[in-house]
Order: sequence, then C-alpha cells, then structure tokens
Amino acid sequence: MANMFPCDFAWGAGTAAYQIEGGWDADGKGPSIWDTFCHGERGRVFGEQSGDVACDSYELWEEDLKCIQQLGLTHYRLSLSWARLLPDGTTQHVNHKGVQYYNKVINDLLSCNVSPMVTLYHFDLPQALQDQGGWKSPGMAALFDSYAQFCFQTFGDRVKLWITINEPYVCAKLGHEDGVHAPGLKEPGTAAYLVGHNMLRAHAMAWHSYNSLYRPAQRGAVSLAINSDWAEPLDPASTEDIAAAERYLAFTLGWFAWPVFVTGDYPESMRSAIDAQSKKLGYNGGSRLPRFSKDEPSVLGTADFFALNYYTSRNVKPGGGCGQMLCMKADRDAEEVLDPSWPVCGVSWLAVVPHGLRKLLKYIKGTFNSPAVYITENGFSQTGPVQTEDVQRCAFYRDTILEVAKAIGEDGVDVQGYFAWSLLDNFEWSDGFSVRFGLFHVDLSKAERTRAIYRSGQEYAEIIMKHKTHT
Ligand code: NOJ
Repeated sequence: MANMFPCDFAWGAGTAAYQIEGGWDADGKGPSIWDTFCHGERGRVFGEQSGDVACDSYELWEEDLKCIQQLGLTHYRLSLSWARLLPDGTTQHVNHKGVQYYNKVINDLLSCNVSPMVTLYHFDLPQALQDQGGWKSPGMAALFDSYAQFCFQTFGDRVKLWITINEPYVCAKLGHEDGVHAPGLKEPGTAAYLVGHNMLRAHAMAWHSYNSLYRPAQRGAVSLAINSDWAEPLDPASTEDIAAAERYLAFTLGWFAWPVFVTGDYPESMRSAIDAQSKKLGYNGGSRLPRFSKDEPSVLGTADFFALNYYTSRNVKPGGGCGQMLCMKADRDAEEVLDPSWPVCGVSWLAVVPHGLRKLLKYIKGTFNSPAVYITENGFSQTGPVQTEDVQRCAFYRDTILEVAKAIGEDGVDVQGYFAWSLLDNFEWSDGFSVRFGLFHVDLSKAERTRAIYRSGQEYAEIIMKHKTHT
C-alpha cells in the first residue's frame, strides 16, 4: 500500500505522570488520590504495589529521552502531575522544583526535535482537592481552569498540543461507581454522571480560557482524550442488537463527544435510557444525568481536534444490568460479548481487533463532522514472564497501523497522529506492574530501573522510519 501518512504526521508514544515518575513525595510534591489509594486499604492494587517509585522517571528522565530518540518519535505524550506543580491543587502555592522538572523535559524534547503533547489531567487529582469533594463537586471546574491556565502560562510558549482531561469515562466510572480506581468510591447511580459532567465543564472552561487568552500568542490546539471500544451488534440482522451497539457507543464515546462536537448536550439515547431505568426502579429524584447550565460557556465546540484512545472492540446485545440497583450498566442495557475468534493479549478485556479502529475512525468522521483526529493511545499488553521477542505485539502494531492507513487513504478520515501506549512498561493502575504495555521493558528489580527495547519497539521504530522517509 502506498504511504498514506502525511509528511507532518505525528508518530508518538505516550506515558502518564503517576504511571512512570515515582518521586511521589520528592521535592515538595503534594499527595494525589493515587498515592492515597495505593497507600490505603489492602487488596485494591495488584500485589499492594504503587507508583511510589515506578520507572523513576522523575530521576531518570534522560533515560526516557534516549528511548524516545531510539524510536525516532516525532511526538511524545506526557502528563503533568498537578500535585507536583501545585501541591495543594491551587495556584497559591507553586512548587518550583516541579516547574523545573517539566521545563527540562519539554526543553530536552524540543532540542531533540520531538514535539510534546501534554495532558493536564491523567487520573491523579491532588488529594487536597479530593478532600474538598473532588470531581463530584461543581467547584472543581474553576479549580481545574486555574491549574490549566497556570500550565498554559508556564509551558504554553513551547507546548502546542494539549489534552485537558484523559479518559473522563474511566475517571467517572472506575473511580466513582466501580471503586477500582482512585478515589475508590462505589456510588452507583449518579456519582459517575456527576463526575463526567464536572469534567466536561472543567474541560470547556479551560478550552475557553485558552481560546481567548492564550491561543492568540501561543497558537496551539486543545482537546480532551476520549476512550472508546468499537461496538458491533452481536447479530447484525437484529434491530435490538443494533440499538444496543448504538447505546454502547452513546455511553462511552457519545457521553463526552456528543456535547463537545455535536449539540452541547448528551446524546438523547443516553438520557432516555437513564430516565427509563430510573422510572423502572421507582427512582424519582429527577434525571440522574445532569443538565448543562445556560449561564456557563457552552461545551459545544470546545475541541480543536478529536483525541481518541482505542484499545479493543466488543460484540453487543441488550442486557448486562446489575440486579435491582441503579447503575450505569443497567442504564446502558448493552451487554458485551467477546468474540472467540479475537485473540486476547495479556488482560482479559483486551481482545486484539485492529480493524475495529478503522471502523471507529469512520464512525467518528460520520458522526462528529469529519474532525482532525489524533489517536492518543493504542497498545497491546503483556502479562506473565517478560517476552522480549514479542512477535505478537509486532504484528499488532503492523496490523493496526495498516488499518489507520486505510482509514486515511480509503475512508478519508483526517488522522493526524498515532501515539503508541506506552513508551515504557509502567504502573498499570489497579493491575500494578503485572500488565506491561511498554515498547521498552523496565527492570523493576534494579534500582537503576534499566530500560531495554522490546522487539516491538524496534518494529515501531522501523515503521516510523519507513513512513518518515518515503513520503
Ligand atoms: C488508558 C489509560 O489512559 C492509561 O493510563 C492506561 O495505562 C491504558 N489505558 C491501558 O490500560
């Protein structure tokens, strides 16, 4: 296939602060909700592990830079630790050591010709703000906006690609309904919708601030990273299954993309499904899905590109509730069925379905008015003994990147970048270090946290090289 990738295509890899940095209390950093979560109740994280040291990138950034260069990346996606910059979450106390650290990272990247894509929030809320109610509190939006503005002022002369919030779906559902992510709340029914709502408000406020105050001089682009699996009707001829697949997408992609890209409000199918379920269970506290206030700046139009995190696909049919409880699964009424023909990589939820990415990209083009798209995450995990010759992951990257090429060349999707997840094996949240997504293995048994390239890292480097030189 001819090279479909534009010459300025972003070839990247990503990481997130808590997953790699370590230095959890170094040099004035404040605690985040992930510090609290890992240090708290036993049994929440695999092997009682934590990101206290992780890949020690706070100390070993220059080793990461070597990895980035070895891959030939044009872009590197990193996240800022809010509590490293602002230990109590507010701009009243700035931790200058934190500013210094990220300045070095950004400057080093630029001096190696690598453009940073910076995520402001990747799951690690300062604990001090959680103590004031966290994302359930409406006041978080303004606090996030101040933090975002602090980052635009401090780093925006050099950072041109910003992600405000990473995977609001995961923060809302896993953190506030299932309780398996920090802050570990198990409050099915309304908390996740409230958190999602406040995250959208926070994102929109930060986008508007950037748009009016910083964009004129800095000329960057801002979006939020939305995760979604692709959903297929289990039986393509069944109208019920087709409707279930649509609901599935409405509750993941649509929840955040519909307000930002289409109407300024949630998908109608999402609201009616939630309201119908409330009624069925005799809940009469009004719609559990909040409404956007006309007195606040609209969320509509608050993304300069579509940032997509894609990992897997699902077949879907109606069902999948949780008994008589109000919960998102019951609201969604879309049960996931794993296709036995899809190989699974590492963790059970991760079926390898490269062609699902092409379908999702085509769906995004059709539904969200042909936006420019960055695939901000996509990857393949490994569990059990370390396999340096990870041939399956090599095939995964080849196949997936071919699907992206087809989406560009045959479906006309405006894909502008692809970021592999992840540069390094790192702290995979509640799975600890047992699940490895890295293009580089990190030896946790050694204090030096030695990085060693996987075969798939070499493969990705070759893919990048080939596309960069044959345009
Ligand atoms: C998405 C998250 O953004 C990232 O932090 C995580 O490691 C990957 N998914 C893999 O689960």
